[in-house]
Amino acid sequence: MTDSILIKKGTLVLPGRKELVDADLLIREGKIVRIGRGIEDPQAYSLNASGLLVGPGLINLHVHFREPGEEKKEDLFTGARAAARGGFTTVVCMPNTCPPLDNPLFARYIVSRSAEIGLVNILPAGAITVGLKGETMTNFGLLKEEGVVALSDDGKSVGKSRLLYLAFRYANYFDLPFILHEEDENLSPAGEMHEGVTSFEMGYRGIPPAGENSRIARDLVLALYTGARVHLTHLSTDLGVDLIRWFQARIPVSADVTPHHLLLTDQQVKQFGTLAKVNPPLREEKDIQALKLGIREGVINILASDHAPHSLEDKEVDFASAPFGISNLEITLPLLVKSLVEEGVIDWISLWEKLSLNPARFLKLTDRGSLEEGKVADITIVDPDTEWEVEVNQFESKGKNCPFQGWPLRGWPVYTILGGKVVMQEGSLIS
Ligand code: DOR
Repeated sequence: MTDSILIKKGTLVLPGRKELVDADLLIREGKIVRIGRGIEDPQAYSLNASGLLVGPGLINLHVHFREPGEEKKEDLFTGARAAARGGFTTVVCMPNTCPPLDNPLFARYIVSRSAEIGLVNILPAGAITVGLKGETMTNFGLLKEEGVVALSDDGKSVGKSRLLYLAFRYANYFDLPFILHEEDENLSPAGEMHEGVTSFEMGYRGIPPAGENSRIARDLVLALYTGARVHLTHLSTDLGVDLIRWFQARIPVSADVTPHHLLLTDQQVKQFGTLAKVNPPLREEKDIQALKLGIREGVINILASDHAPHSLEDKEVDFASAPFGISNLEITLPLLVKSLVEEGVIDWISLWEKLSLNPARFLKLTDRGSLEEGKVADITIVDPDTEWEVEVNQFESKGKNCPFQGWPLRGWPVYTILGGKVVMQEGSLIS
């Protein structure tokens, strides 16, 4: 079997150069070795990419793979399959497992399992606090030694400001960044959905934007004083974008948005019920417009999934008892194409930049995130034109909790290449 692949006649997406270029690309021994027109290599496996977009492998800063502890919802194997099918070559998995990833040995386990599965690079985020309880810091140095790439108490935010302030200072010594879930639960005790007209009509407990925004403000003030590297994940509010814009003039903070926060509003909870129960909650049209403006301006420089698989039996309960989360890893790219490219908010190059180069820079993955000679051959190939309907029952993910069933979408990944090996071809995984 040859270890060379020649991708012929594709349109290369080069986010670093902000260019689309019609050219061939040759991979050998896991690396990109040549980019140019009319490359020939009779020994290489030839892949016809005519009419397709060929770009750096997609990198996703926010997924939940549920292992250890909740393997009935997802495990590292099914999560990896879903990632490869979704065109992702690197994902960061959140530490809110059972038990939480607050211990270096769990990180070692995830890194080894990721290599064993070999479909996607699964990079662990470690907990900021032991047991995600918000009381005591974890050992950042040991977590980093075992492969933790970022710190997060995702699902919650750290309530004690002094603790987070010290964590920000401590993490600087290990060059570890934070991926922060912003929510002041004191403002939304037992909250279920966005606080607004719809929550009032439905009689559900509200989660006010004030809870998210006050935490964003606090955490960015703490970052300003400590120099911590901070990324705010699954942003959902209009004021959040303004706050980040203000701080970005002073410190290098980054932020991401999920596809569901760009496509659905709180009103759709009426239609989709618990499938649309997510945290942060779906907000209002004015928030969507502000998020899109933030994306267009580059204030929001990263896009991520917050892939949160749950079993249907967990979701098929009354609204208050259902867990938060949407399973979306296999359709993240086409959903983003619908909400951003087809709506004219950004073009393909900018979309790809927010899904590869920018997350690679945040994680300091210098050999990934762009198509250049000498870089690791992590590559995603996308069909920008053909429309397919979302078929949730065909998800590789165990999580079928997805409100987008039946949506017609374009921009599907058709090949995922990891370290020079084709791991997904036309929606099927290559074992
Ligand atoms: O909707 C969500 N689901 N938001 C979170 O922050 C956590 C996640 C989960 O773990 O299911």
